[in-house]
Amino acid sequence: MTNGLAVKTIDLVKTFDGKEVIKNCNMTVHKGSIYGFLGANGAGKTTVFKMLIGLLIPNAGNIEILGLNRVDKENEILKNIGSIIETPMFYEHLSARENLEIHLSYMGILNSNIEGTLEMVGLKGTGKQPVSKFSLGMRQRLGIARAIIHNPQLLILDEPINGLDPVGIRQMRELFLELVKNHDMTILISSHILSEIEHIADTIGVIVDGQILEEVSLSSIKDKFLMD
Ligand SMILES: Nc1ncnc2c1ncn2[C@@H]1O[C@H](COP(=O)(O)OP(=O)(O)OP(=O)(O)O)[C@@H](O)[C@H]1O
Ligand SMILES: [Mg+2]
Repeated sequence: MTNGLAVKTIDLVKTFDGKEVIKNCNMTVHKGSIYGFLGANGAGKTTVFKMLIGLLIPNAGNIEILGLNRVDKENEILKNIGSIIETPMFYEHLSARENLEIHLSYMGILNSNIEGTLEMVGLKGTGKQPVSKFSLGMRQRLGIARAIIHNPQLLILDEPINGLDPVGIRQMRELFLELVKNHDMTILISSHILSEIEHIADTIGVIVDGQILEEVSLSSIKDKFLMD
C-alpha cells in the first residue's frame, strides 16, 4: 500500500493574489521520523501545512500522504492525520477532559481513550481546572492531546514549542519521542528557530521564500560522527 513515506509533495505551488508564496515545494518525510520544518516568518510553513491537511488547495503540484493521493483519498487521509495549525483554540471555561469530549462528539469519534490520552501528554492531574488557568505549555499539551486522540499515523504541528521555556521544550521533546517510538507516529513540526528543533528532529527541511532549499538527515550526520 505505502512506500515508507509519510509525506511526499511534488512541485507544490500556492498563489495568493497573483503572488506565488509557495514555489515548486518538494518535501519528503519518512515514516517513523520527526521532520523539523525550519523557516523564517513568512517563509511559507503554515501555508504548506494547510495544504497537507486540506485547508488550502494548491494551485499546482501533487501531495501524497501515507502513500495515498491527497485528492483521491481525502477521507482516508484525514482519519490518519492529527494537527495543530497556528494557535489552538479551546473552550476556556471548560476542563481539559470536557474540551476533548466536545471535540470527540463534534468529530463523531467513538471509543476513544480520553484518560489515556491526557496521561500521555501529562495533563492527567488537571481535573476540573478550566483551560483559562492553563500555562502555555499545558495548552500546547492539550492541543496535542486533541490532535492525537484518534490515534493518527501522522501528526502535523505548526510551531508547537513557540514561546515555551527550556523545560517545556524538553518535555515536548520527550513526548514527541514517545509518540514516535511507542505509538508509531510520524511527526512534522515547524519552527523558525533551529535550536528549538535540532535536538528533536531526525531530518530538517529548510524553507526559504516558499521553496525547500535543503533536506538534511540529522540522524545520518549523528551516526557518522558519533554525536549525541
Ligand atoms: N490567506 C492569505 N492571503 C494572502 N497571503 C497569505 C495568506 N496566507 C499567507 N499568506 C502569505 O504567504 C506567505 C507565507 O505565509 P505563512 O503563514 O505560510 O508563513 P509562515 O512560514 O507560517 O510564517 P510564520 O513563521 O510567521 O508563521 C506570507 O508572505 C504571507 O503573507
Ligand atoms: Mg506560520
